[in-house]
Amino acid sequence: TARKLEDRYGRVATDLRVSLTDRCNLRCSYCMPAEGLDWLPDESVLTDDEVVRLVRIGVEQLGIREVRFTGGEPLVRRGLVDIVRRSHALGVETSLTTNALGLSRTAAALADAGLDRINVSLDTVRPETFLEITRRDRFKDVVAGLEAARAAGLGPIKINAVLLRGINDGQAPELLRWAIAEGYELRFIEQMPLDAQHAWNRTAMVTAEEIFERLEREFVLKPADEPRGSAPAELFLVDGGPATVGVIASVTRPFCGDCDRVRLTADGQVRNCLFAREESDLRTALRSGASDEDLAERWVVAMRGKRAGHGIDDPTFLQPDRPMSAIGG
Ligand code: GTP
Ligand code: 5AD
Ligand code: SF4
Repeated sequence: TARKLEDRYGRVATDLRVSLTDRCNLRCSYCMPAEGLDWLPDESVLTDDEVVRLVRIGVEQLGIREVRFTGGEPLVRRGLVDIVRRSHALGVETSLTTNALGLSRTAAALADAGLDRINVSLDTVRPETFLEITRRDRFKDVVAGLEAARAAGLGPIKINAVLLRGINDGQAPELLRWAIAEGYELRFIEQMPLDAQHAWNRTAMVTAEEIFERLEREFVLKPADEPRGSAPAELFLVDGGPATVGVIASVTRPFCGDCDRVRLTADGQVRNCLFAREESDLRTALRSGASDEDLAERWVVAMRGKRAGHGIDDPTFLQPDRPMSAIGG
């Protein structure tokens, strides 16, 4: 490719995360309030053609090698299967991060469209805890979605779990035992200050250290030999393997130095970091008739402002204006 998405620290973005909608059909307490949020107006959201055009520019001109579709909840976007098919046709690895609601209906179509991998958010295997965290009684639908994904050959399937103190932190071993039995790769994630309510605080966060401590009461964990590269998850063999568990310690063990990601929001803004304070508006340029060249150049420029790290520990840290659901996870 002619150009690359390189920042001032020499990091090159090759992994594009595209949010397809800011809407979601769950209300996870660590993400949004019970009443939901002010969703983006439809006219601000990129059309399927606009999304595919930007993905194509990323792939053909800017060195993007992987595309992950996120939300909000990407399965609520009507054009998802078509977007996946067209993205896959560009020859780029295509994946999805989803809560799996409704996946039982679309897993086969997604696999047929060329979806390579799927990551599913699930914080508990107890229906009553699921209801408490997500405010919706849909645990069974998630399990059905996971089973459909597995049946459709969408593997290996990863599961993302956020632990909340006093709610599901005691369930970490039970969740791991279940994931191993079902053949899913479980990762525990440290909660980040990206909730719409701005309720995150460091003392409530369940740290990686605590996660290890809880798991090691019941399992023997040993660092896996696999090189980690730019992956957010540190991998551990469970009881000698082959089963593994991952820990994504964004807060206490930041991996920003190896970051290879760039994000595109549902309303067409490039974000060079989850915690970026500015976005670059590609939508307006795109809708004003900008050429591929021009859009690619704007994207390159957007990367130059990427900061060294998330800065959560800085005294001057400011939570981003937009919550996780609008940024795309
Ligand atoms: P894989 O390629 O399958 O490992 O995907 P992933 O772990 O990068 O993506 P996923 O959407 O499953 O995200 C899992 C968790 O990692 C979520 O909590 C994300 O917010 C977090 N995460 C993903 N990318 C970044 C990142 O660039 N920075 C930070 N701090 N966290 C990230
Ligand atoms: N901190 C960490 N992870 C989060 N997720 C959502 N909100 C947060 C947060 N504040 C997780 C979801 C999903 C992934 C994209 O991010 O559970 O698995
Ligand atoms: Fe990259 Fe920002 Fe995530 Fe750090 S916080 S890994 S810089 S996207």
